[in-house]
Amino acid sequence: MVAKYIAGLRALAARRVVTLVAAAFVLASVIVILVRLGPPAKLNDLKLPDVKLPDIDMSKLPNIPGFSGSHEPEHYEKCDRNITEPLKQWKAAQQKYDKLMDDKFTIAMQTYKRPKELDETLRVILSEKIASLHEIVIIWNNLEEKPPGNFKSETGVPVRYRVSERNSLNMKLLPDPDFKTQAVLLSDDDVYYKPQDLEFAFQTWRKFGQHRLTGALPRCATPDAEGNWGYGFCSKDSNQDVYSMIITNLCFSHMSFLDYYSSNNTVMQKVRDYVDDHFNCEDIALNYVTSYLTGTGPLLVKGRDKYVNYEPAQGISKKPGHLEARSKCLNDLTKMFGCMPLVNETAHIERGVIVL
Ligand SMILES: *[C@@H]1O[C@H](CO)[C@@H](O)[C@H](O)[C@H]1NC(C)=O
Ligand SMILES: *[C@@H]1O[C@H](CO)[C@@H](O)[C@H](O)[C@H]1NC(C)=O
Ligand SMILES: *[C@@H]1O[C@H](CO)[C@@H](O)[C@H](O)[C@H]1NC(C)=O
Repeated sequence: MVAKYIAGLRALAARRVVTLVAAAFVLASVIVILVRLGPPAKLNDLKLPDVKLPDIDMSKLPNIPGFSGSHEPEHYEKCDRNITEPLKQWKAAQQKYDKLMDDKFTIAMQTYKRPKELDETLRVILSEKIASLHEIVIIWNNLEEKPPGNFKSETGVPVRYRVSERNSLNMKLLPDPDFKTQAVLLSDDDVYYKPQDLEFAFQTWRKFGQHRLTGALPRCATPDAEGNWGYGFCSKDSNQDVYSMIITNLCFSHMSFLDYYSSNNTVMQKVRDYVDDHFNCEDIALNYVTSYLTGTGPLLVKGRDKYVNYEPAQGISKKPGHLEARSKCLNDLTKMFGCMPLVNETAHIERGVIVL
C-alpha cells in the first residue's frame, strides 16, 4: 500500500518534472531572446602585409569614386553612440508621429510594370480579414502609365495608388503625410506573408520590433581579410548564424526611421543621391539608418508558412554582379556614415510552438 503510494508520488513528481521541462521549452521557443554579439575585432588591428608602394605621391592621384586600388583599404570602426544631433533629430521625428495609431499598420507596396504580380499579391492579402491592416498604399513608379483607380476591398481595406514624383527607389521610403499609422510594412509587389502570418509579424513588431526593421528576409555583412565588407544571403552553407539586415522587400519600419531617411540631414541627402545614381541599395541604407540611431540590429520574423516570393529566375538578385553591387553599397555607405552601424543579431521569432 505504502510502496504503491510512494510509486504514485514518484510518477507524479516525474510527470511534474516533464511538465516543467516542457513548459520551459515552450517558453524558450516562443520568446527567442535576442542576443547581440560582442563588438567585432577592431578592423584596424588586422595585420596587413607589408606592401611596397610605388615611388609616387599617392595624395596627388585623382580620386576615382569607388576605386579601391593597391593602397590600404579604408577601415571603419563600429559607430559609437555619441551621436547627440542625430538622436535629437530622431526623437523629434518620433514625437511628430506620436499621434498616429500604434495598433494598426499601413502597407507601402512598391510596383513597377508588374501588373500580374501586383494583382496576385493584392488578391492574397485581401482574401482574408487582417485585423490590424489599416490601408494599402501602392507606390506607383511606372510614370508612363496611369494607375488603376483606388478601391476598397471586400474585407474593408482601402487601397490607394500613389503616383511617384519620379521613378526612384527612395519613393517607397517616404514618410507619407497621409499615413495614419506609426508602423509601415515596406514591401514589393512580388513578395508577401500569408494573411495570418502578416498579422503575427505586425504583433511581433509591436512587442519587440518598434526600434528595429522587423521582417522576413535577412541579409549578412562580413568583412574580408582586408576589411572590405561583403554582402551575403546568410545561407546555411556560408556558415553564418548571424544577420545584420532585414531587407525592405517585406519589413516593418517605424515612421520615424522613414522621416530620418527622407530628411535634409547632410548624410541622408548624400545617401538618397547615391540610391538614385545606382538605382539600388535603399534597403541597405535604411538598415544603416535604423542601426545607427538605435545601436541594435534588425529582427527576423517567420510566420507559420514561409513568405511567398515569386521573383522570376531572372530577378534582380539572380543577376550576375548582384552581390558585388550590393557589397559596393555596403562599403560606400560605410564611408558616407563614417563608421559601420550594422549590428549582428543571432536570434529570430517564429510563429507557433514546436513540441518535440
Ligand atoms: C561626443 O561628441 C562631442 C561632439 O562630437 C564631443 O565634443 C564629446 O567630447 C564626445 N563625448 C564623448 C564622451 O566621446
Ligand atoms: C557579424 O558577424 C560576422 C560573422 O561572425 C562578422 O564577420 C561580422 O564582422 C559581423 N558584422 C558586423 C556588422 O559586426
Ligand atoms: C531641414 O529641415 C528642418 C525641418 O524640416 C528645417 O527646420 C530646416 O530649416 C531644414 N534645413 C535646411 C538646411 O534646409
